[in-house]
Amino acid sequence: MDTPIVDFVREYAKSGAVRLHMPGHKGSPLLGPEELDITELPGADILYSAKGIIKRSEENASRLFGSAMTLYSTEGSTLSIRAMLWLVRAECAGKGRAPVILAARNAHRSFLTGCMLLGIEAFWLYPESGGLHGSKISASSLKKALKELKPDAVYLTSPDYIGGMADIAEASRLCKAHGALLLVDNAHGGYLRFLEKSLHPLDLGADLVCDSAHKTLPVLTGGGYLHISGSSPGSVLERAEEAMAVFASTSPSYLILQSLDMANRLLDGGLPERIQKVCRLVGEAKKRLSDHGIAVCSDEPMKLCLMPKSYGYTGDDMSMLLAKKGIYCEFSDPDYLTLMPSGMTSPNEMERAVNQILLVERRQPILSQPPKAAPGERVLSCLEAMLLARKRVPISCAVGEVFAGIETSCPPAIPPVICGERITLGAARLLEYYGVTHCDVVDV
Ligand SMILES: Cc1ncc(COP(=O)(O)O)c(C=O)c1O
Repeated sequence: MDTPIVDFVREYAKSGAVRLHMPGHKGSPLLGPEELDITELPGADILYSAKGIIKRSEENASRLFGSAMTLYSTEGSTLSIRAMLWLVRAECAGKGRAPVILAARNAHRSFLTGCMLLGIEAFWLYPESGGLHGSKISASSLKKALKELKPDAVYLTSPDYIGGMADIAEASRLCKAHGALLLVDNAHGGYLRFLEKSLHPLDLGADLVCDSAHKTLPVLTGGGYLHISGSSPGSVLERAEEAMAVFASTSPSYLILQSLDMANRLLDGGLPERIQKVCRLVGEAKKRLSDHGIAVCSDEPMKLCLMPKSYGYTGDDMSMLLAKKGIYCEFSDPDYLTLMPSGMTSPNEMERAVNQILLVERRQPILSQPPKAAPGERVLSCLEAMLLARKRVPISCAVGEVFAGIETSCPPAIPPVICGERITLGAARLLEYYGVTHCDVVDV
């Protein structure tokens, strides 16, 4: 597969051009990659009005992902999520009303801030499992909410941080039956397209999907995709570039664009095989660890997630022990530890990580469990709560107050409380459990 962006930039770097254009480093090797860091020069195309090398590269990505259109993001899934929301908003504007969006509560904060920017108040769907982690919304609760709220779009976040995966195929069937678009935050799942049998949300019937390419594919941090399926309305396809442009910087990183371009060649070559091999290694690791008595929980084929409390360690303890041995994990909290290999992880590295975990001495189980929180009670819109005067209070004094932050510093999962919601005793207990000592509340 060709790499038009990489080729163009390399040629330019070799040409000895006098760089009387941005960026100001002029190609001097201060960190190393500057000579390849260019701007939208003649011939370099324009992101979101793409007609040249960027368009050709995005078309390569679209073929690889089987989408009707794939657009690049140099600002991660955050940008693509905002664009997805804009597109739903634009669809509804044509019908003269604000959109109704039903979202699984494990949404990332980029969804929340996107809603704030667009004046959207989402309706939340909670997983039946309770607890903070959980991407599994039952078909019956989705069906009920679809009937009651008649949303324009359903927004699911899957996979989640601990490898939980929603039933996208079932959600898609239900959304289609109720005329709702299905949007999926697949930030953690770009690689799912390249398994022996694809589990990518686009292949399971989602209409709009974002992937953080940088999370699971060999792409520089910030690289992402917005994929639009052929099942989306034509107006969505027509407005997609504009939707990205509304929120994007006008100075896209060509280093990231080259990285996305190069990923196409790798994905068209041997990378899928490497991804599949690492998935097999993760499967073997899950078995070895669980045979050894360490509970594992991830449905995701390329994520290894441990629940080490029954082995005598919190996720954070286990993470620290591994870090001392030079093994750094993606995420930990009191209950979970997540290791994220990729197609670039060698069998030797996987083996080292698993062996180090197996060397950790078993201790008495830790019996504490996270408290359960009831669904939040909305008092103000998210945006109102964010803009009003606020004060910082200890969590012990926060019960009954209206939360005013964009995040609760809890694990990246179901937030116990979202800005504009009243802080319940259950939410306060959860925040304390996760080590949050203070929070911002509306100062009335
Ligand atoms: C589930 C989820 N969605 C969206 C995002 C935002 O992605 P990005 O950092 O690529 O903008 C993240 C980031 O961690 C995430 O975990």
